[in-house]
Amino acid sequence: MDICISDDFEEQLTAGGNREREDIELELLLEGIHRLYGYDFRNYALPSLRRRIWHFIHSENVKSISALQEKVLHDRACFERMVQTLSIPVTEMFRDPNVFKTFRENIVPMLRTYPYIRIWHAGCSTGEEVYSMAILLHEEGLYEKSRIYATDMNDRSLAVARQGIFGIEKMKQYTKNYIEAGGTRSFSEYYTAKYNSVIFKPFLQKNIIFAEHNLATDRSFNEFNVIFCRNVMIYFNDTLRNRVHGLFHESLSRFGILVLGSKESMQFTEYGEYYEPLDRVEKIYRKMK
Ligand SMILES: C[S@@+](CC[C@H](N)C(=O)[O-])C[C@H]1O[C@@H](n2cnc3c(N)ncnc32)[C@H](O)[C@@H]1O
Repeated sequence: MDICISDDFEEQLTAGGNREREDIELELLLEGIHRLYGYDFRNYALPSLRRRIWHFIHSENVKSISALQEKVLHDRACFERMVQTLSIPVTEMFRDPNVFKTFRENIVPMLRTYPYIRIWHAGCSTGEEVYSMAILLHEEGLYEKSRIYATDMNDRSLAVARQGIFGIEKMKQYTKNYIEAGGTRSFSEYYTAKYNSVIFKPFLQKNIIFAEHNLATDRSFNEFNVIFCRNVMIYFNDTLRNRVHGLFHESLSRFGILVLGSKESMQFTEYGEYYEPLDRVEKIYRKMK
């Protein structure tokens, strides 16, 4: 569940309201985490990072960012809890159904002409986006010649994704999304219900490789025809966004497709000129050079 913390609450917690001191403490905390654990949050967008860290401080029962630093640097379990707070694993199947509909109608015909298809879901969270793609490719008769690489920095989210087990209460919304996304069958064909959960059919996992990959620190690892990176870069600042776009540009084949989230765009990045927008509303771009 996404957490919303009001600015008032944050101000209350920053008793004394010394922003300059807080910024120094924050910088030291992120530097320490980077040096000790190798996770680099230094270029995450400040407003949401600040809010989440204050929320975490509250939940850990400490009083300041410096006190949190002391705890995080001496207690790996505390650091792991912090990764969960900063990761924001909010997702759903066929999220923004029109993106998947447009992909099915306008991108799939191009993919049909390829001998094989490699797709990267960067920041896949608990996997709902990835199973959605597997279903879409299966219905279009392309799944057999596809490989889907699904990565995230959050190993707990990846563990959920690998299992393919989701809460039954979400299926109503997911079925609605599936139909709006142009789904052609009965959505319940793809899972088996058990108690309060559903288990997605194992054939959907056959061509999916789940792996840990951190967009802030790791390198490109393959060449792809399609990259989905939705609702991830929204939490990054310009420096990190440019790094990730560099990574994607390097990883996409010529005429490769990049799909971003509804609030994200290629505009104002160093790589905008290398892409042609195929759908400005659904944020679908094609690499031209
Ligand atoms: C809001 S979810 C988006 C999930 C999915 N793409 C969607 O749109 O529904 C953001 C995901 O980005 C991941 N993430 C954040 N920073 C990352 C990084 N540096 N490297 C890889 N994944 C990251 C988080 O762990 C989280 O699972």
